[in-house]
Amino acid sequence: MAGAMLSRLIGSGWCRGEEILVSDVDRVRLEQLRAEHGVKVTTDNREAASGSDTLVLAVKPQQLDGVLEEIRGTLHAGQLLVSIAMGKTTRYIEERIPEGVAVVRVMPNNPAMAGAAVSVISPGKHVREEDLERVEEIFGRMGDVYRVDESYQDAAMAISGCGPAYFYLVAEALADAGVKLGLDRELALKLVAGTMLGAAQMLRLFDYGPSRLKDMVASPGGSTIMALEALEEGGVRAAFFKAAEAAFRRAREV
Ligand SMILES: NC(=O)c1ccc[n+]([C@@H]2O[C@H](COP(=O)([O-])OP(=O)(O)OC[C@H]3O[C@@H](n4cnc5c(N)ncnc54)[C@H](OP(=O)(O)O)[C@@H]3O)[C@@H](O)[C@H]2O)c1
Repeated sequence: MAGAMLSRLIGSGWCRGEEILVSDVDRVRLEQLRAEHGVKVTTDNREAASGSDTLVLAVKPQQLDGVLEEIRGTLHAGQLLVSIAMGKTTRYIEERIPEGVAVVRVMPNNPAMAGAAVSVISPGKHVREEDLERVEEIFGRMGDVYRVDESYQDAAMAISGCGPAYFYLVAEALADAGVKLGLDRELALKLVAGTMLGAAQMLRLFDYGPSRLKDMVASPGGSTIMALEALEEGGVRAAFFKAAEAAFRRAREV
């Protein structure tokens, strides 16, 4: 995720590579990032934390405690700390760092790599409007950004954070179905990806909502309504309810 952020921030001209200091435990990865983006690199998290006005924590949730413990002594009021760690609240982070550091929790998603992410952002207790605007600017380079009350973060994670994987699974399944019907796999995947993109654009451009758009495709007694009946029999709706609830529960556990 951090790699995707670097690509978009530097690639879009928002900043130059040398204005970003990247810290990671993996020297090989750091060298790759330096070669690719011209960023400064270090294996010392404290160095990255102390010299930055905006610090993004992009480690796994299980690694967050260790990193916070490591950098807490170098943090100071006035800094902006952005966490993208799934399930970790601003309060949880604030309790482990000095008073006065502004903490913003962000849930981006995997299409950040293509500049087409959806990110939801929630402020902690010391966050000012200008901090939120800065976070919107940064994540806006990767796609759409929505402010939400933090109590909705886990729900948003279950929908947009995990959502790309749901759609990749659907894409794979539909392409397989195309192959079964005799389509070349490459063509089947192109048809699926183009159709997903087109359907998403219809949802965005027109105010009809998914139900009416679906009705526009399904003519009486036609092929689409037959296919929709089969999907209903397969329990697709119920499966999505269950999937989102499973993701939500998991986010609460970490
Ligand atoms: N991937 C997504 O689609 C997505 C979406 C929304 C939010 N997120 C959140 O984004 C965060 C990162 O996810 P990711 O998928 O990008 O994970 P990732 O690929 O594992 O990236 C984490 C990076 O942090 C490094 N790291 C581990 N321990 C460290 C330490 N103590 N100090 C400095 N760097 C350390 C890791 O190095 P090693 O690989 O050597 O351990 C790795 O390069 C997670 O909290 C996740 O919940 C991810």
